[in-house]
Amino acid sequence: MTGLSDSFNRPINYLRISVTDRCNLRCIYCLPAEGARLRPHSEILTYEEITTIARLAAELGIDKLRLTGGEPLVRAKLTELVAMLTKIDTIDDISITTNGALLKHYAHELKQAGLRRVNISLDSLKQDKFELITRRDMLKEVLQGIDAAKAAGLDPVKINMVVMHGINDDEIVDFANLTIAEGWHVRFIELMPFTTDNPPEGHSTWGKASTHSRFMSVYEIKERLSRLGKLKPCPPITGNGPAKYFRLPQATGTIGFINPISQHFCFNCNRLRLTAEGKLRPCLLSDKETDLRQPLRDGATPEKLRQIITEAVRTKPKQHHLFQGSIPKKRLMSQVGG
Ligand code: 5AD
Ligand code: SF4
Repeated sequence: MTGLSDSFNRPINYLRISVTDRCNLRCIYCLPAEGARLRPHSEILTYEEITTIARLAAELGIDKLRLTGGEPLVRAKLTELVAMLTKIDTIDDISITTNGALLKHYAHELKQAGLRRVNISLDSLKQDKFELITRRDMLKEVLQGIDAAKAAGLDPVKINMVVMHGINDDEIVDFANLTIAEGWHVRFIELMPFTTDNPPEGHSTWGKASTHSRFMSVYEIKERLSRLGKLKPCPPITGNGPAKYFRLPQATGTIGFINPISQHFCFNCNRLRLTAEGKLRPCLLSDKETDLRQPLRDGATPEKLRQIITEAVRTKPKQHHLFQGSIPKKRLMSQVGG
């Protein structure tokens, strides 16, 4: 295996596959309340097509896969896709990022199909706040999903909280305390500016202005945690992603920080994204994309497809340009998968 690398010599070994742009929640920073344009099924890659692309990417050096959405579990028979991807020999880690609302129905079968671990997005532990953020009343289901994932042996279960000033920052300490009380692995994520062009109720705007006013840096988050004791750095529980991990005294779980804004980690970025309709997107925060679906459906040879993947990786930008005001505009976050 030669290994994939971009034009800045970053090794690329991690593919995030969005399996659908649909979602059963409507998070304020991700989707408009109504009217998100959804792709018809014919535009969405089939599981066979996804598996073909994953296999070609694996031949080039990808060894880690993550399934994302929208919400991956709203796509029918996701377990079948997991089972198909598990058969690719050189893939040594398959995981999923989910909002957890449907997880209790699928955790066990996903584990049996070969899924290793799961990240669950959860921004509030309070019923009313959860509903304000997600515009749906499903907190109970998500908490049941977390328990089901643990019971099924998916390990580790990581909880991702996007911190928003004045919305859920009052819960930072509550989430951190669950690393002690419940052994949760919690990751605090800085809010990134993706537009949704349609504000949540009670907010006159959401988009560039809101992400600025709601933004809270990792430094401020750490400050809020200072009263819980000293955060001791610890090695990552899995992988080599952008999160930096710590432990509170007496905690069995960990606290991770993901700070794409206050300290970007682009120089270490090892990832490539595939959208549900078959576009390779080398950078989450750049709209540059390469189509794979058409060549695939036109019968391009494996060699040609591998060449398209390699060339797409070569277009990966050195870093994001959020500070120069360059915000991705072509897609909602739900169409990229975080
Ligand atoms: N900023 C930071 N994280 C985001 N996510 C979605 N939109 C944003 C944003 N604007 C996160 C979700 C989930 C993952 C898929 O991406 O909360 O954890
Ligand atoms: Fe990677 Fe792009 Fe995110 Fe930087 S902004 S970490 S290059 S995906």
